[in-house]
Amino acid sequence: MTASISSPCSEALSELPTPALIVDLDKLESNLERMQARAGDLSVRLRPHVKTHKCVEIAQLQLEAGAVGITVSTLYEAEVFAGAGFEDITWAFPLILSRVGQAARLSRRIRLGVTVDSPQAVAALTASGERFHVWMKVDCGYHRAGVDPVSGAPLRLAADIEAGGHELVGLLSHSGNAYDERTLAGRAAVAEAERERITTLAGRLRAAGFEVPELSVGSTPGMTAVAHLAGVTEMRPGNYAYFDRTQVGLGSCAVADCALTVLASVVSCQADHCVIDAGALALSKDSGPADSVMGGVFVDATSGELDEELVVTSLSQEHGKLNAPLPVGTRVRVLPNHSCLAAACFDQMVGVRGEEVVASWRVWNGR
Ligand SMILES: Cc1ncc(COP(=O)(O)O)c(C=O)c1O
Repeated sequence: MTASISSPCSEALSELPTPALIVDLDKLESNLERMQARAGDLSVRLRPHVKTHKCVEIAQLQLEAGAVGITVSTLYEAEVFAGAGFEDITWAFPLILSRVGQAARLSRRIRLGVTVDSPQAVAALTASGERFHVWMKVDCGYHRAGVDPVSGAPLRLAADIEAGGHELVGLLSHSGNAYDERTLAGRAAVAEAERERITTLAGRLRAAGFEVPELSVGSTPGMTAVAHLAGVTEMRPGNYAYFDRTQVGLGSCAVADCALTVLASVVSCQADHCVIDAGALALSKDSGPADSVMGGVFVDATSGELDEELVVTSLSQEHGKLNAPLPVGTRVRVLPNHSCLAAACFDQMVGVRGEEVVASWRVWNGR
């Protein structure tokens, strides 16, 4: 699998206007291959979450590597990727009732999975007159969204889905609580609890006569740690394509695996600090892994060597503050705390191999 050059790029990395979103294609490709191999080892299919990159070319690489389809978080993403030829898309976000008509139109063109955790959502689908592929969202420990798997709600919701004439594709959960764990054993335990809860609920539903063909789980910290996924059919990590400073802190990856950086320039030098042109609208304000640092700075982004002293200490809208007085004009490669949010700040990314700019790709960050 090798990323192709989608548009000619004449600029060298050292000449690019900043701030710029930079993707190291060698690292990206090996991250995609490693997670695909991991899905194979765990005997599940991989349906990567493309909200991480929002980039058609990268999703194509994921399909080429063996992904069965993609996961999106917005209908906008679903429409963009459908327009680019993707035919099997799961919208893994609790149904937005005001978007049902739009979802119905899209589901006539492609296989669109929609996600519900409430009777109101199922009623809205049914009222549209369209027959949907429906995933039931289950709360397997993250406590953000989803039905309680040990309550009566899943059986009632499954009955509503069938009564509405829809197809219950399966159960879907997200182990976002793996981000709270600081050890491999802790992340593995969260992923195992997710697996155990979702397979137990599937057993209850099947015993009650419902077909539940698919069980979809995952997050990057969960899927890089889980020991086995018996009974599960697919996983949906997203962040693994880029990784980031948070994943390094969690132990999901090494610094050298991080594929996404923000190229920035020093614009003001003060006695004890300097200011770069990458603020919250380039890096996001996601806090770091158990520290107050807002981003790392590379000595050498290609080899993956982070500066041990130099860090981003604070962010305002367009200003980023570094803890050393570097001369104006100095260029730095910043490792964001959260690559998905940093990428979504940009509408264009630059693909590099080493210091060579080889691609320029659109980031579809609309709503
Ligand atoms: C529903 C859902 N599935 C999968 C993912 C992917 O998780 P990660 O970004 O940790 O890989 C997310 C991320 O937020 C999500 O919300």
